[in-house]
Amino acid sequence: MLIDPWGRQITYLRISVTDRCNLRCVYCMPPGGFARKAKDEILSYEEITRFVATAAGLGIRFVRLTGGEPLVRPDLPVLISALCAIPGIDELSLTTNGILLEKLAKPLAEAGLKRVNISLDTLDAEKFRRITRGGNIEQVWRGIEAADALRLHPIKINSVIVRGLNSDELIPLADLTRKHPWHVRFIELMPIGNLADWGADFPSSHDRYLSVGEMKEILSALGLQPTKGPAGNGPAKTFRIPGGFGTIGFISPLGEHFCSSCNRLRLTADGRLRSCLMSNQEVSVREAIRQGDPLEPLIRRAVAQKPEGHQVSSSAFSTPPSTQPTSTPFMTQIGG
Ligand code: 5AD
Ligand code: SF4
Repeated sequence: MLIDPWGRQITYLRISVTDRCNLRCVYCMPPGGFARKAKDEILSYEEITRFVATAAGLGIRFVRLTGGEPLVRPDLPVLISALCAIPGIDELSLTTNGILLEKLAKPLAEAGLKRVNISLDTLDAEKFRRITRGGNIEQVWRGIEAADALRLHPIKINSVIVRGLNSDELIPLADLTRKHPWHVRFIELMPIGNLADWGADFPSSHDRYLSVGEMKEILSALGLQPTKGPAGNGPAKTFRIPGGFGTIGFISPLGEHFCSSCNRLRLTADGRLRSCLMSNQEVSVREAIRQGDPLEPLIRRAVAQKPEGHQVSSSAFSTPPSTQPTSTPFMTQIGG
């Protein structure tokens, strides 16, 4: 078992399979994207599989594949079937922007994938194009439909809410759960990623944050009732619209009770193990994987380094990017 110094049992591993993405969401990326990592810097599927087999032996039960956008990595179903075959991995899931899901839902399901989380911040095609700097929302809808038809359930839709950008869509997004058995989760914007100016028609850094408390106030007209979340709901607090088929969750990474129940480790695409999204402490496992060295001590070291919590607060939004700690990574480089 993996128990961190604060008594939390670590059972969940998020793996970034690529730092590339086919969208350029304003809060996540600079307009031009990033310099691509060379192929030999990125862990191969065999290397990821070897790592997960060791981690499963130590008590990792849940694996989530992220990016960048995981579906842009070629032959992802090959990795899915290898990971599904590892004894001890009870659940394998994927977080995607949905753009390539229409085409890939079937091969992914056939490889053993059981469910997906899809990121969707707006219902408006033109706003989607602006937020993602060019994305086509129709592709996402077709991806969600394909996943639904293949029963990649429960389907979770993640919406990062930015004040003055999509906060006016809280009710329409929540309304999706009246008709569909989907789980819409509203996520507070984190002061990580693109804190810079997003351009003329976007809110400036210090105006962007909307707390879960404020989201709930906006949604109060819906009469939300507390309910049990879907399996694997992680840190979300869950509600439903009376009579609705789906649920509505709230994720407050800056809120109080987030860290105390954190059961996660993260593996970056280039083989660094991070025990906290908000901390730059990491253990590189790539060379050990490549040389066939034992991985258990490295995994244990990362767990031993897991901080009790983070000190990041919403005040970080009012700090100019030039004075941010220099090494704040982008979400897509560490896998959400
Ligand atoms: N704050 C909150 N969520 C973010 N994501 C990317 N950047 C941020 C941020 N700064 C989300 C994406 C996606 C997931 C992988 O991470 O919207 O849902
Ligand atoms: Fe890509 Fe997701 Fe970042 Fe958007 S938030 S640019 S879809 S990785």
